Amino acid sequence: MKSGEYRGSFTAIATYYDTLMSFVNYPGWIQYIEEILSQNGSKKKTIFDLACGTGVCLELWSKKGYQTIGLDRSLAMLEVCRTRFRDSADTAPMLINGDMRSFAIGRRVPIVTCLYDSLNYLLSEDELVTCFRHVYDVLEPRGIFIFDMNTVRCLRDEWGNGTFTRQDDTIHSVWSNTYDYITGISTLRLTLTVCNNGTVNTIHEMHRERGYQLINIAQFLSEAGFDFSLYRHLTFQPAHEQNMRIMGVARK
Ligand SMILES: C[S@@+](CC[C@H](N)C(=O)[O-])C[C@H]1O[C@@H](n2cnc3c(N)ncnc32)[C@H](O)[C@@H]1O
Repeated sequence: MKSGEYRGSFTAIATYYDTLMSFVNYPGWIQYIEEILSQNGSKKKTIFDLACGTGVCLELWSKKGYQTIGLDRSLAMLEVCRTRFRDSADTAPMLINGDMRSFAIGRRVPIVTCLYDSLNYLLSEDELVTCFRHVYDVLEPRGIFIFDMNTVRCLRDEWGNGTFTRQDDTIHSVWSNTYDYITGISTLRLTLTVCNNGTVNTIHEMHRERGYQLINIAQFLSEAGFDFSLYRHLTFQPAHEQNMRIMGVARK
């Protein structure tokens, strides 16, 4: 790889992902999802987390007594997840290196989650509807699928065409976004400069996310066979295009 070239997403940053995400109140997200599960009468304690990444949520679920399964495309993210459970083999999730556009896990589950923008990484309508269909197939009858997505407004207006920097612990990061109005795809060029014991490591990664109109998300969930509700994230108010992040609750 030439110096300065951008690598694919979730390769080199895997080691630094948890530090970069330390601002996210994951316990609050899990509490919200528990409320959704309770409202939907879901009592079974097995969760399949699609695009589980480094397993932050898997760990929180397992501490609440859930059996967990995680799937992710990135071997590097799964490796960090394995390390997270290194000393707790009895509660470790079953981990699968796979693609949420095409997966089969050989069993059915009562709950599927897909969190923190992961569905936005599906860049075409076909990919999104295919993913929804696979989730429908893997769910038990009356199973529930809970996911979040960034809205078009978030990618277009909030991220837009801007650059910002952050300092998290020993990581200096530069986040440079461009938004394509025709494709609805936001491209992030992320540069991390990590200083550790006198050595400096520079990492470049490119991430691409697509925003979908609520009407399309609704159509694709229907086509996959779900009954569903879309909420403004972390609330039970109906989702709106002006929200930055929405939450989907889809019932088989
Ligand atoms: C922003 S991270 C979120 C990770 C985790 N869900 C969380 O909440 O921290 C997005 C994750 O989606 C995964 N991902 C992206 N596209 C994928 C695909 N087609 N199939 C499976 N995983 C995918 C990435 O590898 C990455 O781990």
